[in-house]
Amino acid sequence: MTIQKVLVVGAGQMGAGIAQVAAQAGLNVVLHDIKDEYVNRGMQTIARLLGKNVEKGKLTEAEKTAILQNIQSSTSLEHAAEADFVVEAATENMQIKADIFRKLDQVCQHEAILATNTSSLPITEIAAVTNRPERVIGMHFMNPVPVMKLVEVIRGLATTDEVYQTVEELAKQMGKIPVSVNDFPGFVSNRILLPMINEAIYCVYEGVAAPEAIDEVMKLGMNHPMGPLTLADFIGLDTCLAIMEVLYEGFRDSKYRPCPLLRKYVKAGWLGRKTGRGFYRYE
Ligand code: CAA
Repeated sequence: MTIQKVLVVGAGQMGAGIAQVAAQAGLNVVLHDIKDEYVNRGMQTIARLLGKNVEKGKLTEAEKTAILQNIQSSTSLEHAAEADFVVEAATENMQIKADIFRKLDQVCQHEAILATNTSSLPITEIAAVTNRPERVIGMHFMNPVPVMKLVEVIRGLATTDEVYQTVEELAKQMGKIPVSVNDFPGFVSNRILLPMINEAIYCVYEGVAAPEAIDEVMKLGMNHPMGPLTLADFIGLDTCLAIMEVLYEGFRDSKYRPCPLLRKYVKAGWLGRKTGRGFYRYE
């Protein structure tokens, strides 16, 4: 199956990134969100990042214009019927995702593949709300999407081989490297990454060291490009907590218990970079 028209549902940091790489791959993209404000912000992010690439000489002004012309923005699902591929990148909440998939299932053509960029929720459960579970799949991009090479591709229980292969090819077309992963809580990336971040938060909570010191240890000692607390702020502390909850509930194992300090920060609205404060303060 050849994909030409892509609908991206959710224009946040992940959705905008996915729309950008899809448009760069020459696909026809609609970037959808529920409010003009969200879609406009997503489009501005894409234009800013492409502009930086022009400044660096990696793109010409004409290429930037062509990529932007490949992306249309929308606040209604009127374009969904034209899409042959949908990737959902909304909030990490099963109820929200289930509602979106129910709607998409009604409005999209029968052949359309419905993918979710969920970072940890069960693909099989999301697929089960539709009448096409065999055409539902996980396509998990990493943040920042334009930079990170990995895409975890996760089959639900009913996903067909044809759908899997189409997504694998699409990921490659977008310049990514797909890796096949089974449908377990947190898949592979977040099952390993988030407990490390949670442990770094426990180190702050227990007074083992200051956030800066913890990040320095992991950067200088383990060659991580960002320390775990800087990365947590970058991902968003609400998303980090949501993923830890999925691991904790999914495995019922105390080793995945979210750190109380993480809960406290989320309750305070200290969600990291996007709210100006998390483990660090941002302008
Ligand atoms: N969006 C797009 N491009 C970005 C970017 C962003 N937010 N941030 C940086 N870049 C680009 C820069 O423009 C630069 O591009 P060029 O090579 O073309 O110049 C390149 O990335 C390197 O950036 P910098 O030199 O400014 O900084 P850096 O070397 O520290 O790299 C980084 C930045 C790539 C983000 C690096 O710090 C890194 O790899 N951090 C870890 C990221 C990570 O672990 N991501 C996974 C998060 S977990 C996840 O996504 C899964 C989930 O479900 C929660």
